[in-house]
Amino acid sequence: MNIYSAIIKGTKILNDNLILSSHLDAELLMAQAIKKDRKYILLNSNKELRPKALNTFKNLIKKRSFREPIAYLMNKKFFWKFEFYVTMDTLIPRPDTELIVENVLKLTKHKNKLNILDIGIGSGCILLSILKERKNYSGTGVDISQKCLNISKINAIKLNVNSRLKLFKSNIDKFTLGKYDLIVSNPPYIIKQRLKYLDTDVIKFEPNLALDGGLDGLSEIRKVIRKSSELIKKNGKFILEIGYDQKNKVTKLLEKEGFYINSSIKDLANNDRCIVSTKI
Ligand SMILES: C[S@@+](CC[C@H](N)C(=O)[O-])C[C@H]1O[C@@H](n2cnc3c(N)ncnc32)[C@H](O)[C@@H]1O
Repeated sequence: MNIYSAIIKGTKILNDNLILSSHLDAELLMAQAIKKDRKYILLNSNKELRPKALNTFKNLIKKRSFREPIAYLMNKKFFWKFEFYVTMDTLIPRPDTELIVENVLKLTKHKNKLNILDIGIGSGCILLSILKERKNYSGTGVDISQKCLNISKINAIKLNVNSRLKLFKSNIDKFTLGKYDLIVSNPPYIIKQRLKYLDTDVIKFEPNLALDGGLDGLSEIRKVIRKSSELIKKNGKFILEIGYDQKNKVTKLLEKEGFYINSSIKDLANNDRCIVSTKI
């Protein structure tokens, strides 16, 4: 079978399983199966597939039809300007989270040196993107999951920022090391009862540790705010991602811990997604 015919068959299987981006997904999975990029596939669609490659492709299509996310099947996700290695142990970096990177870069345009803490570093997408953009900054990442730290480390080496990164396995509640100029965090913030309504791609495959915000969705946010208040320097900036309906409650929590609210930032869907505050 040639590349073109296999992609058409794969697309049909995905379509039958109600995968909306069926054709694109089939092309991406073909690229993964034959270890080439999408451009190669489009230019070589008449090429015959080796049996092993065809088998790999069929397996990937099967997994996708069970809703496994493309990022996990390809072990990579593009975020900000860089490609990140991801596995099912870490949340897939989201475009909304790029707001944190964008705002940190805006806020720190004139700062030559900064020491940054990322609480719940996951794949490393936030902190490593910032370190890659700013050659004099250094960073510390904390995560409760050792597997996430391992993935962050791989990404730090890939992006060549490893020498400016420290990683610690800790529940943020117990973390006491250092004082930071700036803190970023995208904590788990989904209300436990709502987890079951998430897309199958998310709830069946992404780590619960990265999603579950407890009974009111704020249990990890509370810890992160309380700890940030201790770990941040006076006048330090804190940039926190939140759920679409959490702005008012999170604002109160921040003010209670001595943060002045600078702004809240909306995502592309016009939801409040990120709060920028300063420790006073
Ligand atoms: C929503 S994910 C964010 C991952 C990554 N920063 C991103 O934006 O894609 C939250 C991360 O926080 C970690 N985490 C959850 N609870 C934690 C806690 N109590 N202390 C430290 N890390 C925690 C999870 O393991 C997960 O990697």
